[in-house]
Amino acid sequence: MTIKTFIAMSLDGYIAGKEDDLSFLPTEDPNNLENDFGYRFFYESCDCIIMGRRTYEITKDFPKQSFENLPTYIVSSEDGENFINYKNILNIPHQNIYVLGGGVLISSLINDKLIDDIELFIVSTVLGEGIPLFKDIHIEFEVISTKQVLNNMTHLSLRRKK
Ligand SMILES: NC(=O)c1ccc[n+]([C@@H]2O[C@H](COP(=O)([O-])OP(=O)(O)OC[C@H]3O[C@@H](n4cnc5c(N)ncnc54)[C@H](OP(=O)(O)O)[C@@H]3O)[C@@H](O)[C@H]2O)c1
Repeated sequence: MTIKTFIAMSLDGYIAGKEDDLSFLPTEDPNNLENDFGYRFFYESCDCIIMGRRTYEITKDFPKQSFENLPTYIVSSEDGENFINYKNILNIPHQNIYVLGGGVLISSLINDKLIDDIELFIVSTVLGEGIPLFKDIHIEFEVISTKQVLNNMTHLSLRRKK
């Protein structure tokens, strides 16, 4: 099983600003819709999505791309449709898991050495406060590649050191 994520954070490590504000994220260039920063390629390498209950609440009404149709599980301590408990993540019947977010879930998975790969996009905005991506993390990643993809965003491919 491989568990990986594709996520953007501010220069100071926040995946959302105050009150879940996502306006620091670059929007797609309407003149260059081909440039999705590798998202479709990444998405098609996965066979299911997991996300934290807060990310689910915030993103459930966001528009979807035509290809976005993977089975989705919401990690929560509550019961609900497609909800799973954190301790059952390794039991889901899929092999290539896309962790959509957010920081609480990703930090837990990193600390439990369950995240293998991170496609990390660093936006050169300092938010000062918000939802951190890395919380109480003490683990090393290797840099597989780096690429500046916009004048205000750099992509790092990271792999957990085994
Ligand atoms: N920049 C980006 O690319 C990006 C991507 C995704 C999300 N986001 C943003 O991230 C924010 C949400 O992130 P967040 O860190 O606040 O919350 P989150 O990780 O999305 O969800 C937290 C909730 O998930 C459940 N959960 C997660 N890990 C758990 C664990 N180890 N054990 C038990 N339950 C666990 C709990 O649900 P219960 O409380 O129900 O038990 C917990 O309250 C939103 O603003 C969203 O828009 C940004």
